[in-house]
Amino acid sequence: MGYSYILPIKQNRTKSVEYITLFNTMKVLVATEKPFAKVAVDGIRQVVEKAGYELALLEKYTAKQQLLDAVADADAIIIRSDIVDEEVLAAAKNLKIVVRAGAGYDNIDLAAATAHKVVAMNTPGQNSNAVAELALGLMVYAVRNLYNGTSGTELKGKKLGIHAFGNVGRNVARIAQGFGMEVYAYDAYCPDQAMIDANVTPVHSAEELYRTCHIISLHIPATAETKQSINYALLSNMPAPALLVNTARKEVINEDELIRLMQERSDFRYVTDIMPAANEKMNELFAGRYFATPKKMGAQTAEANINAGIAAANQIVDFFQNGNTRFQVNK
Ligand code: 3PG
Repeated sequence: MGYSYILPIKQNRTKSVEYITLFNTMKVLVATEKPFAKVAVDGIRQVVEKAGYELALLEKYTAKQQLLDAVADADAIIIRSDIVDEEVLAAAKNLKIVVRAGAGYDNIDLAAATAHKVVAMNTPGQNSNAVAELALGLMVYAVRNLYNGTSGTELKGKKLGIHAFGNVGRNVARIAQGFGMEVYAYDAYCPDQAMIDANVTPVHSAEELYRTCHIISLHIPATAETKQSINYALLSNMPAPALLVNTARKEVINEDELIRLMQERSDFRYVTDIMPAANEKMNELFAGRYFATPKKMGAQTAEANINAGIAAANQIVDFFQNGNTRFQVNK
């Protein structure tokens, strides 16, 4: 196909399409420093090419300049945790839409996207089972003393506190119940009934959740409200022995205060899928009760890559062809 077709989208914040001729081929760039599984890229290619668009790939890039060069002629971008800031948006002269194949979109400068008349979307729910499975995997690893051969404990019968009951939190609850855990959740934005329907006990403050549970699993996004919010005062509520599992974002942790608490409490363990800035120091100080994955692995499964990657491609096609902005996050 030598051209692509686009319906006029009459939205104030989206770029006017009048200048796009019928003879332009829409270019969709997949820019992933941490690449999708090949099978997911094949699926994305199929969706993009079926729509008559061209697919470009920038994987495992090591310098921002490579991203700046690659976005120059892209009409749409699919990213993961890749940073899309003012500089990237300014370099992407043709860009109309960026889709974060995943849940958290703290890596996109939403105000800058809006200013550049670029629609930003995520693909909620598509990788949540993968992240939830990893959270439980990290939990088992921690309570079995990082598989060092000594006797650990089981998850059965233990109280698990889920901090934020979104897509990942709900999957964690489902899997934890399979382990026989007693599941509690706190989420200021989720009605109690959604938790009750999932056989989860709702609590009404973060303090109460941390006071009630020996194990806490974090599923809050990184926002102005949540950054640094997991601090000494909150974590001090946890009964001994305590285990904090983080498959959310490192920015939500107040690292200095976590370190202080772990120095004071030898019962406190921390396992995370997002390496802290103080990783080396924490490895030295807390051997046997601290672990960080070398690279964020939560969504790193073929299934999650296929789900999120193909959803992103479909959302781009649906946006260009029908003006669908259902998953827009910079409204
Ligand atoms: C998400 O927000 O969807 C997860 O943190 C996964 O991020 P990733 O695509 O960078 O692995």
